[in-house]
Amino acid sequence: MNKTYYITTPIYYPSGKLHIGNTYTTVFCDALKRYKALRGYDTYYLTGMDEHGKKIETVAEERNLHPLDHVDEMAKETRALWDRMGITYDDFIRTTEKRHKTVVQKIFEQLIEQGDIYLGTYKGYYCMPCESFFTETQLGDNHTCPDCGRETSQLEEESYFLKLSKYQKRLLNYIEEHPDFITPASRKNEVVSFIKQGLNDLSVSRTTFDWGIKVISNPKHVVYVWIDALSNYISALGYNTDHDQLFQKYWHGDEVVHVTGKDIIRFHAIYWPILLMALDIPINFRLHAHGFYQAKEGKMSKSKGSVVYPDTIINQYGLDELRYFLLRELPYGGDGIFTPESFIERVNYDLANDFGNLLNRTISMINKYFDGHISRNPDETHEADQALESHIEDTIKQYKENMETFKVSEAIKGLWSLISRTNKYIDETTPWVLAKDLEQKDMLENVMFHLAESLRHIGILLTPILPDASKDLFKQLGVHEKLQSFDTLSFGLGKSFEVVKKPNPLFPRLDSEKEIEKLKSIIRGEHDEDIEPVDETNLASIDDFNKLELRVGQVLQARYHPNADKLLVLSVDTGEKQPRQIVAGIAKHYEPETLINKKLIVIVNLEPVTLRGEQSEGMLLAGSNKESMEVLTVKNLNPGDHVQ
Ligand code: MSP
Repeated sequence: MNKTYYITTPIYYPSGKLHIGNTYTTVFCDALKRYKALRGYDTYYLTGMDEHGKKIETVAEERNLHPLDHVDEMAKETRALWDRMGITYDDFIRTTEKRHKTVVQKIFEQLIEQGDIYLGTYKGYYCMPCESFFTETQLGDNHTCPDCGRETSQLEEESYFLKLSKYQKRLLNYIEEHPDFITPASRKNEVVSFIKQGLNDLSVSRTTFDWGIKVISNPKHVVYVWIDALSNYISALGYNTDHDQLFQKYWHGDEVVHVTGKDIIRFHAIYWPILLMALDIPINFRLHAHGFYQAKEGKMSKSKGSVVYPDTIINQYGLDELRYFLLRELPYGGDGIFTPESFIERVNYDLANDFGNLLNRTISMINKYFDGHISRNPDETHEADQALESHIEDTIKQYKENMETFKVSEAIKGLWSLISRTNKYIDETTPWVLAKDLEQKDMLENVMFHLAESLRHIGILLTPILPDASKDLFKQLGVHEKLQSFDTLSFGLGKSFEVVKKPNPLFPRLDSEKEIEKLKSIIRGEHDEDIEPVDETNLASIDDFNKLELRVGQVLQARYHPNADKLLVLSVDTGEKQPRQIVAGIAKHYEPETLINKKLIVIVNLEPVTLRGEQSEGMLLAGSNKESMEVLTVKNLNPGDHVQ
């Protein structure tokens, strides 16, 4: 039977749009889950939303919505974002769901009965305008509210408390006996010294707002957010129900991993294990707390216009570009900075130059020298072979170690070192010199084989990180599905390769200066104001839209229109018997040769027209703004595929 791997993200507050900092955790867990799945684990990935509490109630009120309508909308948006980002979660838990609420209520009652939760009074400082309670240590100078700076008043409120003090010693022992329980080590030390200062019992209910899970035996109380929120990790698995198979399988399975940001480590490293101990559930999990993404000036802030949203990056540059940056740039145990400069640099240097170019060059050379087909040819070996082969071996080993210990950024760094090593192998073996000498044909094939086989390994190791790009690499390189799996990571298993005739750049190079400026202005929000409102008086029906037939078309030839300087004349393969000729007004934005092989979206059922003497049998889809125009392209579809 396969080993099990259960991984979770924190559940997100539906209080605002998620930025790249929040999405980091989710992408990080996605990479780890994919990695474990590729290693043959039976994986289960949980994410979701933390939908109760005063703050959510207030946000919904401001929007004139019932809290449930507000959170429904936010949950839908969040799921759409994860789907767009290709996140392979298995379950999405919402704390407003019945399956969760029932479990929390049972937990709470059990702990009251056991005496681990007791009724007392909570002394706090209350800020009227913010309607929030604070403890003395959270306040600003002169007992002012840490959020708005106004004066607070001292209030007493009846509250239930969880006996943390009772479990303090057991928790310290547990941490000591399980050195890998909390990573990185610096965070563990933080937690240990916090516990050693002595734990006060934790207030776990409120009577000042309604938007929460009611305490069954005393319904004027709602369960305060952290007990509610943390329980999601087991309620989603059906804990304490008559259908708890997932709980039995995954919680009691081989590996359980919670990933969070550094700000909520105390809740996960102290309150959650204590809750589990009180419930007599084995702690069983490992906790990894990562750092924060910040803007150059510090915390990302809406008012300073420095918040970066994932869709901005995906729309402009693509999903793998975003995934790569996020996973590469946050160092283990530290914080990371997003700047337009560093993002564009990573795309251009790491993705386009080092990686994309290596694939391109390899495919072009295999076509040029061997008509697209090579096999392992051990008749001749080059002195550089051994160094490359052992670099591949070391990379695999280190990669696995790094992925197992949450050092995803290190794993990627190692992979790029292999990419550089493979590029260097080209310089060392100089295939263009070998190609001039017929007697060196075997040697040349051996060199090509080394390049292709190294790229196959790179593709496999990249699968959890850049799923789309690795798929594309396998396709272009002609790697059979059976040779894309982790257990084929062994030099020489590739045997032979039949590459595509024309390589398609995995990551087109960007014009740095232009893109940095553009990205800066998008982040500042300048572009939003340019967007015109939709003309509601001119709505199209679905039948109007369905009348158009859209298909994928691949450009075969492109030339300037002889009589019009804004037009290009393209010959496009739309999967039909004959290519279509399409005249497009894009000559100011594209050199004809840069369009060759691009896969575009074509409207194929328009009436043909003649434009300045050239017939046009269709139209391309393109987007534009003041500065630029871009034709819409697709990567993995084929000529003739339908677009809806
Ligand atoms: N609802 C709680 C979690 C409950 S888990 C039982 C919560 N939600 S949150 O929406 O505020 O934060 C979700 C996650 O995003 C947290 O892990 C937090 O650390 C992370 N991040 C928030 N800002 C971040 C960055 N700027 N960078 C990286 N991670 C960031 O807390």
